[in-house]
Amino acid sequence: MLESFDINSWTGPFPAETRARAQGALERGGVLYFPKLAFALLGRESELRDARLSDGKAKNISLDHGTGKLQGTSASGERAALLAAMMERFGAGATVFVRDLLPNYAGIERARTSYRPVEVKDRAYSKLHDDRLLHIDAFPSRPMKDGRRILRFFANIAPPQPDGGGSRHWHVGEPFENFAKAFAPHIKPHFPGKSWLWDKLGVTRGRRSAYDEMMLSLHDAAKQDASYQKNSPQTAMAFPPGSCWLVYTDQVLHAALGGEFALEQTFHFDAARMGEPERAPIRVLERLTGRTLA
Ligand SMILES: [Fe+2]
Repeated sequence: MLESFDINSWTGPFPAETRARAQGALERGGVLYFPKLAFALLGRESELRDARLSDGKAKNISLDHGTGKLQGTSASGERAALLAAMMERFGAGATVFVRDLLPNYAGIERARTSYRPVEVKDRAYSKLHDDRLLHIDAFPSRPMKDGRRILRFFANIAPPQPDGGGSRHWHVGEPFENFAKAFAPHIKPHFPGKSWLWDKLGVTRGRRSAYDEMMLSLHDAAKQDASYQKNSPQTAMAFPPGSCWLVYTDQVLHAALGGEFALEQTFHFDAARMGEPERAPIRVLERLTGRTLA
């Protein structure tokens, strides 16, 4: 489930065998782990290891790399500029790294960059917003329509601690197909009228497909099922300071239980262009339900 790579360089070219192993493991629902790939903070950037950068409302600080706009932060002026520059340097570096590691993924698209400076385990959340509960990622306002994938690259930038602390702690759940088999039969049918209305009202950026509705329902159903949270198969993973990891979060059930100071870069990728497209959540769900979802 955890596929480890010895890589310590942010740029390729990487050996063909490494690239094939990376793509295969990702598509089968593995977590690619890079214990030697550290995102080093430069100069005054170390001052950005500060939970007070959060505005206290949003879960994350996010950067739109197209506009350079930051959201979810209390920082302003010079401090905001330092933060935006650090996030942009990370996002650009992550993009080069992922493109070099996965050269078959032509057309992979860089989306939002985020920074999570607040300790996960100390926060209060409503159940559906609580990412300490096992879930798959599905975005309420950003439809993935025809099964577009959500691939996320994370870096732990917490300072290394002498006692070995500072890790980001995850639980990873059972394979997507097993999860979907348990929950999909209980999900209510999709009403296209609602997706049309929400698009018109600007609640969503574009119209949700039946696939989007189903993924959101699966996200919610998993979080609301206390017995599933407690009894389903889970593997603990710890990502120490100075490490990175890469995972299809729309496919891999995950829960972030603890840790602070993580950076994350989201990518979107056309499911049809995967090496094994039949492993994409949309294809799995279509097979299980016997319906076309987009
Ligand atoms: Fe998530």
